[in-house]
Amino acid sequence: MSAKQTLLRTLPVDLDPARLPKHVAVIMDGNGRWAQGRGLPRIVGHQRGVDALKDLLRCCDDWGIEALTAYAFSTENWGRPLEEVDFLMTLFERVLRQQLREMMEENVRIRFVGNLETLPPSLRAEIDRAMEETVHNTGIQFTVATNYGGRQEIVEACRAIAEQVKRGELDPAAIDRELFARHLYTVELDDPDLLIRTSGEMRISNFLLWQVAYAELYVTDTLWPEFDREAFRQALLSYQQRDRRFGKVASR
Ligand code: IPE
Ligand code: IPE
Ligand code: MG
Repeated sequence: MSAKQTLLRTLPVDLDPARLPKHVAVIMDGNGRWAQGRGLPRIVGHQRGVDALKDLLRCCDDWGIEALTAYAFSTENWGRPLEEVDFLMTLFERVLRQQLREMMEENVRIRFVGNLETLPPSLRAEIDRAMEETVHNTGIQFTVATNYGGRQEIVEACRAIAEQVKRGELDPAAIDRELFARHLYTVELDDPDLLIRTSGEMRISNFLLWQVAYAELYVTDTLWPEFDREAFRQALLSYQQRDRRFGKVASR
């Protein structure tokens, strides 16, 4: 490994290792605009977006962040032109197949959240295989939100809870926040500490509606394919300057 690579692998000196977010979530936005700005088809932006995600995963691992959740495809993204949707589904499948060995070597545990049932069967098969093969990995927890919608997730949780009540297995008085959260797709994950959105849009776009209740939000104008370690360092610096009060009074 070159000296420069070693340097990039270590946590930048201006970041406090004791105050890093445990769980970072990212809305990877701006692939289309990145491509269009270069006179390229939108799909080239998606291809480059995959490289940015691979780099960020590795960076989180190098810098000691325990969990990364990335928004790859929303329940609303089906409304895009058919060829873009088809391209994305094929891209996800190909990347997953190509990356599985590396994720095993790097001890990554991968999960997918969203309505996985309606994805193309060949993509589902790769998803199942990747989740099964990495289930015992103890390194970074990498979650990919695919065909994910926060409202859909909440509706599905309500339905599952209502079924239990109907069968007489659950007293409505026992439904509390903890029980509800156990019915979400993210049951095995703590809530994100930091939510990053690229490309300057100041919105959540139906991502992790329940889970971001107290996440720190960070929006950058950088388009997703250009979101690199330096851009991530800036996001973490901003995070480390926040006072997370959780509704209480200032902690410092
Ligand atoms: C994000 O980039 C990727 C997906 C939603 C799949 P976009 O494709 O939304 O890029 P813009 O927002 O059109 O630039
Ligand atoms: C959010 O980006 C979804 C993903 C990043 C997968 P969009 O580009 O779909 O969101 P809007 O349309 O700008 O709200
Ligand atoms: Mg977009």
